[in-house]
Amino acid sequence: MQFETIILGAGAAGMMCAIHAGRDVLVLDHAKAPGEKIRISGGGRCNFTNMHAGPGNFLSANPHFAKSALARYTQWDFLDLIGKHGIAWHEKTLGQLFCDDSAKQIVAMLLDEMAKAGATMWLRTAITSVEKSEDGFRLQIESEGKRKTVTCRNLVVATGGKSIPKMGATGLAYDIARQFGLSITETRPGLVPLTFPDGRFSGLSGVSLPVRVICNGASFDEAMLFTHRGLSGPAILQISSYWREGDAIRINLFPNSDPFEALRTQRQQAGRKNLSTVLAQMLPSRLADYLAGEWKLNGNLADQGDAALTALCDRLTGWDLVPTGSEGYRTAEVTLGGVDTDGLSSKTMMAKDVPGLYFIGECVDVTGWLGGYNFQWAWSSGFAAGTSI
Ligand code: FDA
Repeated sequence: MQFETIILGAGAAGMMCAIHAGRDVLVLDHAKAPGEKIRISGGGRCNFTNMHAGPGNFLSANPHFAKSALARYTQWDFLDLIGKHGIAWHEKTLGQLFCDDSAKQIVAMLLDEMAKAGATMWLRTAITSVEKSEDGFRLQIESEGKRKTVTCRNLVVATGGKSIPKMGATGLAYDIARQFGLSITETRPGLVPLTFPDGRFSGLSGVSLPVRVICNGASFDEAMLFTHRGLSGPAILQISSYWREGDAIRINLFPNSDPFEALRTQRQQAGRKNLSTVLAQMLPSRLADYLAGEWKLNGNLADQGDAALTALCDRLTGWDLVPTGSEGYRTAEVTLGGVDTDGLSSKTMMAKDVPGLYFIGECVDVTGWLGGYNFQWAWSSGFAAGTSI
């Protein structure tokens, strides 16, 4: 069977592309339902974009690559679309926009728009091989238990990254890219909890507090959560994308106030109080106890001179920790790295040396922060490819 355009992957990017790719479009996916990551995202409410989305919120070997696509299909364009479908939404925090009701509304909206555009979708379809034909591409697939050959002029690869293999994530996009001579930048899990050895923080599991976390030039002010295996929460997920094995992360436990002033005041007013008791008034008490033990904080406040208080505050605002690893692709929200943008047009997402072959969404080496940025990249890159076909 012959199609003008075949899109591999019925996720966020693939469906957006199908809406804009014109006539005679076939979308293929091995899953039994489209948009599964949309459905589970944002705790079932889908953080579908961010009011502040811009190129600065993305990691890529080429930080300029995403600019063009993000400028041509913005968060406001997506808001227009959900407005047309009467989907109610709200801002949660830091510009993060969520559905009031359910992420399923976003999937339904995309399917409705795809149907209007006349796109065909085959689910539960395995892609066995992809090769170049004289005027496009020939694919061997297995659908409904039957082997089929389908051909197309344009092939759009939107099969995502490697995160959450249990949900059907595969490295197909990278295999196709390599087959056609494109490079892949190093891939690794992003937006992922970080782990520490020997249950170091297991006694603190469940403790959460606002922090500033810093690593390799990036800094995020958000909540941090202690878990049985290490550290999580939005601040840690954000910084995990910048962290490399062996690096320390620096945690400021007082991102919004000066602990030195607070401790000095306490020393004047209640100098006989034990240092760890005072800390427990400034931090979650389990964490204060842990730090008092770890840093051997003994004695009364009155015993601490200014130099000792300064040294303590330096530790409280610059707690350096070296994670041993991350929870990996099993729980990572995204895959960092991917199809090297050097080989792609930033306007159309088409491979520079393979006319008709496109890569969009998470499989490309463009990765957003936590907070709706990754879906925005899926919408923007899907739109760029779709409208150029
Ligand atoms: P996506 O992964 O969505 O789609 C790829 C499609 O290709 C899938 O349907 C898959 O079945 C199919 N496929 C893969 N391999 C195949 C193969 N070999 N053959 C056939 N089909 C194949 N982002 C955000 O902005 N806000 C949020 O709230 C969240 N929340 C969130 C929660 C969780 C738990 C995760 C794991 C991720 C998020 N994300 C997120 C990230 C976001 O889900 C992700 O960046 C986008 O879904 C990427 O869209 P794509 O279309 O590129 O890939």
